[in-house]
Order: sequence, then structure tokens, then C-alpha cells
Amino acid sequence: MASFKIAVLPGDGIGPEVVNEAIKLLEIVSHKYGHEFALKYGLIGGSAIEEEGAALSDFTLKMCRSCDAVLLGAVGDPRYDDPQGDVRPEDGLLALRKGLGLFANLRPIKVYEELVNNTRFKPEAIRSTDCIFVRELTGGVYFGRPKRRWETSRGRRAVDSMAYTEQEISRIVKVGFEIARKRKKHLVSVDKANVLMSSRLWRQVAEEIAMEYPDVKLEHQLVDACAMKIIQEPRYFDVVVTENMFGDILTDEASVLAGSLGMLPSASLSGVPEEGVVTFGLYEPVHGSAPTIAGENIANPIATILTLAMMLRYSLCLHREAAAVEASVQEALSQGYRTSDIMDDGLSLVGTNEMSRAVREKLEKNDTR
Ligand code: IPM
Ligand code: MN
Repeated sequence: MASFKIAVLPGDGIGPEVVNEAIKLLEIVSHKYGHEFALKYGLIGGSAIEEEGAALSDFTLKMCRSCDAVLLGAVGDPRYDDPQGDVRPEDGLLALRKGLGLFANLRPIKVYEELVNNTRFKPEAIRSTDCIFVRELTGGVYFGRPKRRWETSRGRRAVDSMAYTEQEISRIVKVGFEIARKRKKHLVSVDKANVLMSSRLWRQVAEEIAMEYPDVKLEHQLVDACAMKIIQEPRYFDVVVTENMFGDILTDEASVLAGSLGMLPSASLSGVPEEGVVTFGLYEPVHGSAPTIAGENIANPIATILTLAMMLRYSLCLHREAAAVEASVQEALSQGYRTSDIMDDGLSLVGTNEMSRAVREKLEKNDTR
């Protein structure tokens, strides 16, 4: 019997609800496939500021390091939105990513056939979109120095710095190539090389790494052009690799294709994902804490359930179990279960609990043993 240690950080807003549902599913995986999951709970974000005085305590960071993977709900709390404030829930997430060396953020964008009518796009424009964004997560303008704000005789000033080293670029671009190699062998690298120095270095390093991957076609796109193309012709994309902030923006944009942010999982890894090799990672749904709907049994748990599947696959090497979870989500959708964010005429409107229960029932029945 395999045994794993999972750090669970429910966080803020709808985080605890959706994580709770994913854990119920993990219990099914446990008894059905005979694995043991030891869960270690910790605080992050607004809830950690309240209880521990910091958005991420050393204790929680150490606890995460001692586990095989981290499952996180969401961080963000409007009580800390004051731009003058000195603590922010988001800092906890940034410190966790940095502290655990999670430089590779994988965000798959998959348009389910069942939801093809649920978006603002024409179904034929988005049908069978299936791509993955590889976002650099521990560098760029999020972390570059100097980063500060000060008073001058002519008023206030603030600066952020977009900085990248050759090593930071090459390790993330390699992740892009490795993933592209196992998919359609088409890698789009997104930058702003017509303006930014860091992007010119990015492009050059990407070209150099490309020599090691002659089987993959590398294409460069400027971020503004990519922002257009991703909604004009989403099927054009297979694997996209880009720096931290471009990836943040492009993935929110691309999420619209999938019908709802409530459908999108993500994995943040500390190394190149490889078949049969465990990679430490943090797993979180792409959606945020959605404080306005917290505690109302409205939130869509699918993003977190699909996130759990990514955790099973990349950090625990439980490929069959991951596939079974994903198939169960697909089945629940095809049987017409819908939370309000993906509701359509004639289908069954359900809450967080009911959607999650539907997925669990499919997983129980599913005989992929
Ligand atoms: C995300 C979020 C975070 C980010 C915030 C909450 C710091 O928007 O995971 O995409 O910008 O990375
Ligand atoms: Mn974001």
C-alpha cells in the first residue's frame, strides 16, 4: 500500500469549501485503490494573518516541505485590500511559491464538449480547444528588485522590475519543450521582445534550448498578438510558455474559452514533469477566493477536483487514479449536472456539495481498477 503526506491549505473565501470536496474525493481514491493519504492542515492568506499574524508562517512553509504535495484552495480577502496596508493575503501565496521553488506553473485550458454552448464564443470557434500554458512562476516583475514606493519632492513614485536570468529562462523553457514533445510538438513562446530587454534575452535563450529539441517546432509570439490569437483561433495553440505576468494575464483570458474559471486546475512544480518520476508541487484551482459567494454552496468544485487529479499524476505518480477522477468529472457533466457558473437550459442546477457528490458517485462506480 502506497502512503503519501499531503499538506492541505484551504485558505480564504470559497477555498475551504472546494478543498473539502476534493478531500472527500481523495477518500474514495484511498479506499478504492488502496492508498493511504496523511493530511496535514495549515493556514495561508487572510486566515493565516488572523491566526498567526503572517500570510504564511515559517511553520506552515516547513510543514509543506515535509510533504509529498500541497493542495491549496484560494487566498484573498477584501478586508486586506487597502493599498496602504502592510500585510496582504496574496503575499502568502507568493512566499509559498518562492519558498518551495515552484517555478513551473501548468495551466491546462480544455473546452469540454458539454460546455461548448456556455461561453460567449460561437461553439464552432472553440470546440475541442485543448492547450496548456506553462507560466514562469518565481521570477519576472512579481519578484524583481528594486520594487518599492517612495516620496520625492515632485510627488510619489513606485517601481517594479522585470528581471530574468538565463538560468530562470532556460529551466522554464525546457519544461515547455518537454511537455510539447509529449503532445503535438508545437511550442509557442510568448514575450515582448520588440520592447523589453528581458524578453530579448528570453527569446535568445529559447532559441538556444530549441537546438536540444529538433523534433519540436518553436514559434515566438508577442504577448499582445498572442492575446488576440488565443481567442480568435484557440485551437492553433498546443503548448505556450511565457513569463510570470504575461502568463497570469493570458490564462485569465484563456479561461473564458472554458466557460468558467471554476473549471480550471493548475499545478506549480519544482522541476520538469516526467512520466514515472515524482515532482514536488503545489496544486491550486485557477479561480480565486470569490468572497461574495463564500459559504453558500454555490462555488463550482470541479476546478479543485481536476487540480487533485493533477496532484495524483505529477506528485504521486498515480496516473490511473488521476485519469479516473478526470473521467468522473466528464461523466457528471455529460449527465447534466451544472453549478450556476456553467448552467444552461434544461440541465440540473446543483450546488457545490451535489456536484462533488455526483463526481464521487461516478468514481465509485467507475471500474478502472
Ligand atoms: C494567480 C493569481 C495570483 C497571481 C495572485 C493571487 C497573487 O492571480 O494565481 O493567477 O497573480 O499569480
Ligand atoms: Mn491570476
